[in-house]
Amino acid sequence: MYNFFINELCKVIMWEYSEKVKEHFKNPKNVGSIENADAIGEAGALSCGDKLKLYLKIENNIITDAKFQTFGCGSAVAASSVLTVMLIGKTLEEAKKITNKQIAQELDGLPPEKMHCSVMGREALEDALRNYYQEDWSEIEDKEKEEGTNIICHCFSVTEQEIINAILNNNAKTFDDISKITSAGLACGRCKENIKNILKKYVKQEEKEQLNPVQKIIKINTIIETIIAPELRKDFGDIELVNVEGNNVFVKLKGHCSTCANAKLTLKNFVETKLKELVDDEIIVKED
Ligand code: FES
Repeated sequence: MYNFFINELCKVIMWEYSEKVKEHFKNPKNVGSIENADAIGEAGALSCGDKLKLYLKIENNIITDAKFQTFGCGSAVAASSVLTVMLIGKTLEEAKKITNKQIAQELDGLPPEKMHCSVMGREALEDALRNYYQEDWSEIEDKEKEEGTNIICHCFSVTEQEIINAILNNNAKTFDDISKITSAGLACGRCKENIKNILKKYVKQEEKEQLNPVQKIIKINTIIETIIAPELRKDFGDIELVNVEGNNVFVKLKGHCSTCANAKLTLKNFVETKLKELVDDEIIVKED
């Protein structure tokens, strides 16, 4: 237990955490359970490394007490602790409106890699309220969807409408464009598939140029040279275009990439994805 605490404390010191995160981690508020709680919510899973159980005492529509038990990193403890502080004294309507972004703001921010801890807090709260409201909860969710608050990226509370606006008003065409404009997808990445589906729906496919085979090769080479290779070089890797046969693109990985255990993933998730986004959805990247 002592080793675990020291471990987590070191991580808190190593990451760029705010003073509030450190304070809530070192002296968490409202730790424990509530006997005869009126609502209990859970989120996360031990297999994923973080788990939170939230207990609420509710009197006359007001949360009079909130406690938590958590197993997770320092920021999970801090997010759970600050959430209970935020909840005590709030009406259920006010509590329902607390977003994970507000939990993070209350801690003076969390690093993007740790935003999922605030999402876990929001999810446990949602679970507790769902259990409390029971069947009325689906009506609440339907109403929120109708009002356009369908959240796609929970880490940054980005709604479907905000993503559609980024596409229609800011000319976003790729997942990276959406991330730059809205921050969606910059933390846990669980929203990536949903964002891509929205892109498919709203980005007109015909906007991709119709290229003849020579133009296609030139474009693939330009993208590899100007976008993909510079990214790989940041980690001392490199890439070279070897050949293009129809939609099959043959490349050679160099430097660190040539010996990297994740080379296949890099080819699929970065090189191929980028070429699909910018040149042709049918492209398959293979190592020469
Ligand atoms: S849901 Fe975590 S980054 Fe979008």
